[in-house]
Amino acid sequence: DTGLFSYDPGYTSTASCRSNITFINGKKGELRYRGIPIEELATEHTYLETCYLLLNGELPSAQKLLAFDLEIRHRAFLHEGLRHLFNAFPDNAHPMATLSAAVTALASFYDEHLNMENGTEYLEMAHRIIAKIPTIAAFAYRHSLGIPFIQPDIDLAFTRNFLTMMRAYPGGKMHLGTEGHDEIKEVEVRALDTIFTLHADHEQNASTTVVRNVASTGAHPYVAIASGISALWGRAHGGANESVIAQLEMIGSVDRVDTFIAKAKDPDDPFRLMGFGHRVYKNFDPRARILKKLQDELKEEIGLNSHLMEIAEKVEEIALSDEYFISRNLYPNIDFYTGIILTALQIPKSMFTPVFVIGRTVGWITQWIEFKQDPQSKIARPRQLYSGQ
Ligand code: SDX
Repeated sequence: DTGLFSYDPGYTSTASCRSNITFINGKKGELRYRGIPIEELATEHTYLETCYLLLNGELPSAQKLLAFDLEIRHRAFLHEGLRHLFNAFPDNAHPMATLSAAVTALASFYDEHLNMENGTEYLEMAHRIIAKIPTIAAFAYRHSLGIPFIQPDIDLAFTRNFLTMMRAYPGGKMHLGTEGHDEIKEVEVRALDTIFTLHADHEQNASTTVVRNVASTGAHPYVAIASGISALWGRAHGGANESVIAQLEMIGSVDRVDTFIAKAKDPDDPFRLMGFGHRVYKNFDPRARILKKLQDELKEEIGLNSHLMEIAEKVEEIALSDEYFISRNLYPNIDFYTGIILTALQIPKSMFTPVFVIGRTVGWITQWIEFKQDPQSKIARPRQLYSGQ
């Protein structure tokens, strides 16, 4: 449980790898970024401070944070030419498809990766992608609505900027969405900022391993990120947050929960309880605990969907007391709670996994840099255990 795998240089670096970015103790349900507990980062720091910590190994001073914030704001704009890419996609294209394609296209606008030598160039490349991902995600959403894109507002901080790009009419102060409230509340910004922090990195999960694999071939860092986006889309991984809400809507009422729990336990039924279980956490996902607390805090302030919450609470109550789930260490994971909060922030479920991408991009690019700067790293070549004739 040291959080460090033994490093076997003769073996491919993707089977196990050395890293000093994120520590997880799955048995105890602990998560630390650069040694700092996730509970502290999620409650006492902003997402941008967490980005700086992951990239630089320490939290920023006020002065360094100001400089970092200004650089991210300046880099959030997209090249005008990139807009046309979105028009190649049908309105009903899933935003994860457009997001992955647009990030791949971004690689052709910046080709310095071949001769990046030092930390500064790596950091500049990292700042750029962290800054542009929210703009690309908001463009993908606005394309799906058939409404004009709006570029980021340099006067707005990271998370408020994203919510504004998601909601504002071009040029006006009016906002999309049924509530009609004309401003984005600070409590909404804080909730989304916490969600970004909780998603920032998570050690060698499936999509991060993909990013490291692509890093090992020497391909452009932005196509490594685009590959991570594609891997994250799967419902067993980052796509689970969207599936959780779809599943709660399908269950439809508290009195139908038992039926679906029985389906989830049936070995012959492929149905699984979305948002439950984890490859590493055999205890409560610490991020899920933080989100559950956040959900309870937000109930009054922004009016969460009580119907879906009621069903989710019933699922949780039954699953946490059922022998099938207990004996398999199946607890709620981060995706079980995200969707209800994002729904209250007027973010549609098709955008839940893009929100995961916005939070995780800093982790992916930090892991990419760590891989590139490790003199022992080798091209990915997992060992095959041949089972043929
Ligand atoms: C993320 O790795 C990371 O760090 C990922 C992530 C990150 O931050 O990057 O944390 C983000 O991907 C969170 C996980 C989101 N996915 C879901 O919520 C989808 C639903 N969960 C399952 O698909 C599953 O739990 C996984 C994929 C998450 C984990 O699968 P495991 O650890 O490989 O579990 P398993 O397939 O070995 O299952 C063990 C047993 C099996 O039953 P038996 O064969 O022993 O009888 O548990 C059962 C499974 O059938 N099981 C479930 C279940 N998950 C596992 N049964 C019902 N519902 C479930 N959700």
